[in-house]
Amino acid sequence: MPATSTDLRTPTAAQASHDRTAAATTTPAVRAVGLGRTFATAHGPREVLRGIDLDIRAGEIVAILGPSGAGKSTLLRLIGGLDAPTAGAVQVSGATVTDTDERTAVAFQEPRLLPWRSIAHNVSLGLPRGTTPGDARERVAELLHLVGLDHAAAQRPREVSGGMAQRAALARALARDPDVLLLDEPFGALDALTRLRMQDLLCEIHAARPTTVVLVTHDVEEALYLADRVVLLRSLDAGSASVARTLAVPGARPRDRADRALARLRAELLEGLGVDTHPRPTPEENR
Ligand SMILES: Nc1ncnc2c1ncn2[C@@H]1O[C@H](COP(=O)(O)OP(=O)(O)OP(=O)(O)O)[C@@H](O)[C@H]1O
Ligand SMILES: [Mg+2]
Repeated sequence: MPATSTDLRTPTAAQASHDRTAAATTTPAVRAVGLGRTFATAHGPREVLRGIDLDIRAGEIVAILGPSGAGKSTLLRLIGGLDAPTAGAVQVSGATVTDTDERTAVAFQEPRLLPWRSIAHNVSLGLPRGTTPGDARERVAELLHLVGLDHAAAQRPREVSGGMAQRAALARALARDPDVLLLDEPFGALDALTRLRMQDLLCEIHAARPTTVVLVTHDVEEALYLADRVVLLRSLDAGSASVARTLAVPGARPRDRADRALARLRAELLEGLGVDTHPRPTPEENR
């Protein structure tokens, strides 16, 4: 599909979305097979990821959760072609990832905008190579509108809030219309309220254009609010594979943050992360 499709609502985009959905029945957006990564360090080899087998459907939102150092960012980097596996392979849309390419886009915890460029210019940096100036102007205007930054187009990054800068980074990542959007704790540096708003924004963006999203997060609530599935990684010890478990999250987005089914999953995930949730005994158990 043309990476320069300009409007979320045009038949072209709708057709592309339909094509993606049709392709989804056959080819996963992301497939990891026996994926592993061992780093060579001064103290010898350090194995960080082991035996990851994972299929992510096109249009799915998958959250990667796990303790610090479990290899979440490393996994994301392997999918994005920013790093290469030392075991197994990773595919995006059916083709093995060997380098960074336009099928994936990444956004990180910090927005990484060019400080001397306007917000609009920063967003335009995400556009595919070869986009004509006319198409670029139109596409950037649309993206700024999508993330609610129309009014900030001409401002520099230092003149906008952290949440606005992060929205610009999200727009830049979406600019190339990626098959897979890779987000590494994208809202982790924001205050709690802005973070909730950004989660809702991501829901809205995904509803308008169901790109596959792989979201690394420390935040169990965020994972349960946004993801179709949560993949829990563990720190490696002898014999274990990196994926401790995979949980399906019920309910269509936007979800009720107070949903009792989510509360149960929350306790399960926190337990998986080694956090004691201090469950109160039920009245029956007290008897
Ligand atoms: N280039 C590298 N060389 C050596 N070790 C590395 C390299 N990159 C990552 N590591 C190690 O791999 C482990 C996993 O790192 P990674 O950044 O993937 O963890 P993470 O799960 O994202 O952690 P956090 O939640 O703190 O962001 C860490 O112990 C890290 O020190
Ligand atoms: Mg990380």
